[in-house]
Amino acid sequence: MSEAQALALAADADVVPVAPAREATIAPVPPPSQPCVAVVGLGYVGLPTLLALHGAGSETIGIDVSERRLQAIRARAVDLPAGDVARLGDALGGERLRLSSIPAAVAAADAVIVCVPTPVDAQRRPDPRALRAACASVVEHARPGQALVLTSTTFVGSTRELLVAPLAARGLAAGRDVAVAFAPERILPGDPSVDQHAVPRVLGGATPDCARRARELLAPTTALIHEVSSLEAAELTKLYENTFRAVNLAFANEMAGVCGHLGIDPVEIVDAAATKPYGFLAHYPGPGVGGHCIPVDPYYLLAPLRAAGVATPIADHAMDAIVARPAAVAARALALLRLGGVAPAQARVTIVGMAYKPGVADARESPGLHVAEQLERAGVAVAYHDPRVPSVRTAAGTELRSLEHPEAAPADLAIVTAVQPETQLGWLADVPAVLDATYRLALDGPLHRV
Ligand SMILES: NC(=O)c1ccc[n+]([C@@H]2O[C@H](COP(=O)([O-])OP(=O)(O)OC[C@H]3O[C@@H](n4cnc5c(N)ncnc54)[C@H](O)[C@@H]3O)[C@@H](O)[C@H]2O)c1
Repeated sequence: MSEAQALALAADADVVPVAPAREATIAPVPPPSQPCVAVVGLGYVGLPTLLALHGAGSETIGIDVSERRLQAIRARAVDLPAGDVARLGDALGGERLRLSSIPAAVAAADAVIVCVPTPVDAQRRPDPRALRAACASVVEHARPGQALVLTSTTFVGSTRELLVAPLAARGLAAGRDVAVAFAPERILPGDPSVDQHAVPRVLGGATPDCARRARELLAPTTALIHEVSSLEAAELTKLYENTFRAVNLAFANEMAGVCGHLGIDPVEIVDAAATKPYGFLAHYPGPGVGGHCIPVDPYYLLAPLRAAGVATPIADHAMDAIVARPAAVAARALALLRLGGVAPAQARVTIVGMAYKPGVADARESPGLHVAEQLERAGVAVAYHDPRVPSVRTAAGTELRSLEHPEAAPADLAIVTAVQPETQLGWLADVPAVLDATYRLALDGPLHRV
């Protein structure tokens, strides 16, 4: 951005009115000339974001602290849909993409988008270290005229605490010298049927002018932007969405147990209920909830509330049920083995699916892995098959490698947790017992549910 543009930003501050939130879903208009955009954190979210902006004609700077990740990107060895892999190839071959592990590289950009991970630790406490580090370096290298947009899922108040306040301490006021906004990511990895560009994006600015700058910046990534009244409203929207999903998934698993008790197929019931055109949103039971979002994000809502003494019993119970789900699958597996006369120490179990869901290679918080860990603790010899996840390490430190030919591995029981599109399941007919934690299989032979 030129100095004149920076001055214009300063002059415009606080004069652009925000439309009321209920009328605020609008098609964003990009600025007349494309800005140079830096994306900080090039993971599942940051890399597709970078490619969308590059595809729209922006100069782009991809920044990641992990040299390994940068090497994988340069080698195109990343878990992306085919279209994005092609776009990555084009971008790497051109002039408008730079990759760097140096945080100071953000200084060269007109706009900065932060997409670093916000995980939980082993005790499920939020671990915002990457977020704090990334925001601190963005603040350190910020310059007048920049637009800074945080997209990581995080605590309500993070954008103000980690960007607005420290920028002000450096003499850069949001809305006057820099634009600051929060716009959570809603990407849905692994489902090519969802057009990510068509998914509306929620956005809250520190001031109305900050929101305008962020709208212009994000225009290439989405067809619609829904603007809310504040940074905090945008932060809470994301946490509300994913906690809503967690509560519903926990309930779907509970209802699957009810259906089992009554001898009814839970998927048939959800499908039937979903024919109601209002007031019902289908959630299906499964082996547990994995990935970087649903099993993690609600703690960024719940932990500060707990510290403040605010009661959230429904969400708390849902998260406890989600954590406990893989253990329930493992307990059912051990019961089935015992029924078949196989003691845990003699048992061989093959798990089908190590990714947290079909269509991805991501095994973070994978139900399959948690089931494997439970069974390993009980003394069971565990193997797995997942063509997209070559190996995983259990909490006990055991390295498991995906069976290339699961049909050739002797098994007393198979547990199906996630079926990749390319996975063949015919061999399950020859396994003495199959526990279908996806509730989706139709097999001849002994098929069991959790
Ligand atoms: N993965 C999803 O499906 C998804 C969907 C919606 C929202 N989100 C949210 O988006 C955020 C990012 O998630 P993700 O899945 O892309 O994470 P990720 O783990 O795939 O990638 C994050 C990247 O950030 C890099 N990084 C860490 N600290 C950094 C720093 N200080 N500076 C620069 N780079 C740094 C890491 O090396 C990594 O490559 C999270 O808050 C997540 O909750 C994720």
